[in-house]
Amino acid sequence: MGKKVTVVGAGFYGSTTAQRLAEYDIFDTVVLTDIIEGKPEGLALDLNQSRPIEGYETKVVGVTTGSGGEGYEAIEGSHIVIITAGLPRKPGMSRMDLLEVNAKIVRQVAENVAKFAPQAVVVVVSNPLDEMTALTQMATGFPRERVMGQAGVLDTARFTHFVAEELGVPVRSVKTLTLGSHGDTMVPVPSQCTVDGRPLADVLPADRIEALVTRTRNGGAEVVALLKTGSAYYAPSAAAARMARAIAEDSGAVIPACAWVDGEFGISGVYLGVEAELGARGVRRVVETPLTEAELADLRQAAEAVRAKQADVAAL
Ligand SMILES: NC(=O)c1ccc[n+]([C@@H]2O[C@H](COP(=O)([O-])OP(=O)(O)OC[C@H]3O[C@@H](n4cnc5c(N)ncnc54)[C@H](O)[C@@H]3O)[C@@H](O)[C@H]2O)c1
Repeated sequence: MGKKVTVVGAGFYGSTTAQRLAEYDIFDTVVLTDIIEGKPEGLALDLNQSRPIEGYETKVVGVTTGSGGEGYEAIEGSHIVIITAGLPRKPGMSRMDLLEVNAKIVRQVAENVAKFAPQAVVVVVSNPLDEMTALTQMATGFPRERVMGQAGVLDTARFTHFVAEELGVPVRSVKTLTLGSHGDTMVPVPSQCTVDGRPLADVLPADRIEALVTRTRNGGAEVVALLKTGSAYYAPSAAAARMARAIAEDSGAVIPACAWVDGEFGISGVYLGVEAELGARGVRRVVETPLTEAELADLRQAAEAVRAKQADVAAL
């Protein structure tokens, strides 16, 4: 107890993340903020009223914030800040279509986080993910290990779900891994994927694995096309909450995350989806997962693709 976590943005992603964090019952306070007056306060009241039923003590505090930083005093002392503010995709949109509009939002949020919660570890989820993570680090000026993005936990969970469905086995029998970036440059790592300890390649033909990889890569768009009014939030919020938990508990859990890579895999100077050991100060270290030559080549290619885009965000 004694820990405080803030979720910026009380939309679908932010409100479900706040709910999951509160239900963990490991935080004193979950602060939920938004620019829409009354929305975070209303959701916080609703979440607090579920405490006697769900049996948790964590208090949720809802705060409306202004563009000049009004209301941000409420995040003071936060150990972790999760940034979900920004527009989600509509059917037919790519994550990159959100770049300019979300960069303005995320920059403004990040500057206020730096001012009011200068010691926080920041988990970014706003899209396009890799670029918004890089932008948040620049705008906060925080050490790179204290800023990370959420994508890999979600992509990995989607891949695991699809494999389990295909084979009719429990999800707990399946272990998968995706690295690289969130989107077209996602790098599946079949050599690390197993079903009840057996290599995935031994239990599924190559063309079926490829089909599931493609479905995973398009996993967000598939949900967007069905919902028509927004993007996924149950699995995404579970992913961000799980990262926050590892940070809050200083657990050292090894989790796929968008983290600053500086020399690992022969790649330097870029935010990229890799396995990272998470603790109270953020990324303790990037784990150099053993990769085949082909997987390593794909990861390096993904790094170059995102490097160019991340350099551009400084100008936004
Ligand atoms: N990283 C991932 O894996 C992943 C997965 C799903 C969604 N996302 C992204 O997460 C973001 C949020 O998605 P959502 O479904 O919650 O959208 P949403 O539209 O339901 O909610 C976004 C919220 O952000 C708020 N907001 C806008 N500007 C703000 C500001 N300056 N400060 C505080 N709040 C502000 C809006 O008022 C709104 O309530 C989107 O960019 C989406 O693309 C990422």
